[in-house]
Amino acid sequence: MDVVRDLNALRASVAALRGGDTRIALVPTMGALHAGHVALIEAAKRPGTRVVASIFVNPTQFGPNEDLSRYPRREMADIRMLTEAGCDLLWLPSVETMYPDGFATSVRVTGVSDGFDGASRPGHFDGVATVVSKLFGQVEPDAAYFGEKDYQQLAVVRRFVADLNFAIDIVGVPTQRDDDGLAMSSRNIYLDDEQRRQAITLPRALGVAARAIARGEDVEPVLDDARTMLAAAGFEIDYVALADAETLTEHPAADRPRRLLAAARMGGTRLIDNIAIDPV
Ligand code: PAJ
Repeated sequence: MDVVRDLNALRASVAALRGGDTRIALVPTMGALHAGHVALIEAAKRPGTRVVASIFVNPTQFGPNEDLSRYPRREMADIRMLTEAGCDLLWLPSVETMYPDGFATSVRVTGVSDGFDGASRPGHFDGVATVVSKLFGQVEPDAAYFGEKDYQQLAVVRRFVADLNFAIDIVGVPTQRDDDGLAMSSRNIYLDDEQRRQAITLPRALGVAARAIARGEDVEPVLDDARTMLAAAGFEIDYVALADAETLTEHPAADRPRRLLAAARMGGTRLIDNIAIDPV
């Protein structure tokens, strides 16, 4: 696997990979890679496709009181993991390459980015949409892979790709989980043993609620029960909500694809998860 840190080198390497009919698939990440990221690389590896991963801890998507400075950085281990996964090229830009002096542009998506994480983390999705747009402009991929773990992020990316006419297939990959059901996340390392044990209540509460909603039970009491379960496990709840799977508006019609979304803090660590509701 080639590793490039300079934009001219990136463009030359991508051009060399692309050749005649070869498609380029991009997997954007912030590093500290785990099996969830590897699943994206695996999904991207298709016949006739070369896989480019990027690692960039994007400062503009972190709020002032968030974990930018302590976000885990493990370049050597990440390079090893990507090489083993069969990734063809790693793009490792510096902050100066991504945001040179005079940088003045922001990609802002309204609607899908307003609620949930967008409401709790002001400016977060502007930072995500801006950096992902830049990665698309730099790599010019034919397809890009994103995890359903960050469901709202996936919806935001789909929205600006449609709105700005990027000719890029956006592919969502199911959430990869530890054996006990906790969604894999680079932030799980912040949890101590007791918090890690309690954290499985998040996928469990969502699973119970999703089954009840799919059976046709009244949504609000079901969401309240999920909140009660989470609070009893020591979570400080940010939101537990049912949304339209596409527009992310609340109170979706039951014949629409729906998604149950939650964010909650365990100690200082903010965890998110979501689950599809089977259509009635
Ligand atoms: P990061 O949190 O590193 O995640 C990179 C990609 O891996 C995202 O598409 C995310 O949804 C996916 N991912 C993370 N955990 C996963 C899991 N357990 N199962 C499946 N996919 C998982 O998300 C970001 O970085 C950034 O916001 C980024 C898109 C790179 C823009 O800076």
